[in-house]
Amino acid sequence: MTVDLKTIHGTGQSGTAAMSAPATALEGGGVKPIEDYLNLGEAELYDRIVDAKRKLGRRLVVLGHHYQRDDVICHADITGDSFKLARLASERHEAEYIVFCGVHFMAESADILSADHQRVILPDLAAGCSMADMAQLEQVETAWEQLQELGINSMMPITYMNSAANIKAFCGRRDGVVCTSSNAVPLFDWALREREKLFFFPDEHLGRNTGVKFGIPLDQMVVWDPRLDLGGNTPEKLIDARIILWRGFCSVHGRFLPRHVDERRAEYPGIKILVHPECRYEVVTKSDLNGSTEFIIKTIAEAEAGSKWAVGTELNLVNRLAKRHPDKFVTLLAPDLCMCATMFRIAPENLLWSLENLVEGRIVNRIEVDEDTAKWARVSLDRMLAIQ
Ligand code: 13P
Ligand code: SF4
Repeated sequence: MTVDLKTIHGTGQSGTAAMSAPATALEGGGVKPIEDYLNLGEAELYDRIVDAKRKLGRRLVVLGHHYQRDDVICHADITGDSFKLARLASERHEAEYIVFCGVHFMAESADILSADHQRVILPDLAAGCSMADMAQLEQVETAWEQLQELGINSMMPITYMNSAANIKAFCGRRDGVVCTSSNAVPLFDWALREREKLFFFPDEHLGRNTGVKFGIPLDQMVVWDPRLDLGGNTPEKLIDARIILWRGFCSVHGRFLPRHVDERRAEYPGIKILVHPECRYEVVTKSDLNGSTEFIIKTIAEAEAGSKWAVGTELNLVNRLAKRHPDKFVTLLAPDLCMCATMFRIAPENLLWSLENLVEGRIVNRIEVDEDTAKWARVSLDRMLAIQ
């Protein structure tokens, strides 16, 4: 595969990363320039990453989300979904440096949950998440005020892990909580017992797919479009709603369509359809099983030899599962879909660059959430960890 290094290393995009982290956060000065790394060959990159990790030893832990590319995930000490990686960050306090191979909101959560002496590093600050960017704090605050003006008071704010730290802090300040795709069901269960209504952001699809598991009718889950007054709803609709869903979606999972399920079933009789709950409701209802990336990995691992699976999630993970389980047939649900472009920004070049700078005592691309935001975001993250 050809990799456009200029794209990977660029920092000029409008993602979460660019907005909430400094372009280059340095400690120590005299940083090794990234340009020195752009023309290295695969084997040299691999060997030098292994060498830098060996030199840093127990001072370093490299965390890798399952959607990372093969040439990066092979260097992760621990892999996981968003929930597992957040929990690890809250438990593993021995390493001084946490190099996060994932996207910006995950690195922010790791910074919030880690101990004071730990430093979290994101090898490319442009590795944001388009879904997280769909809910901006001012928009969420405006929505909350408008709902309160309608007299809606018993409402629980729940944010998906895929959101900026200031959105998590918004929830923390209002007795709300964070959830991930692994624990959305127990968290919704708790929240529905605590308050009359839920306000869920930023993933409309995960919210709806979880709401139906509680028997909530579709017409009691209304969508809030932040561009419109009252989110594009009448006051009556909002007052009657059980769940208010932010209009946001994953640009990868949102592309799977019901026709892809029909096509795969026609092409491979007996195939099972396994999807991530960030997929649309119409896709999830047509599937056989749905769950987080950890659930997807476990399901395929435990499946019978000879079984066939069409998987609706990120391409790097699906390809890896197909390679790891040659006794099973594993394919992407939609043959023409691509990987998560922002996850892909973490490349061996910028991983090596961040590690070799660490070896020389310089911290590059540190992700540091300001104290007040971190304090309140931690409230909502800790609540999640306690309830799930
Ligand atoms: P999980 O890691 O919770 O499965 O979420 C998938 C995802 O889209 C992460 O960005
Ligand atoms: Fe964001 Fe979707 Fe990429 Fe996950 S897969 S980082 S939700 S755009």
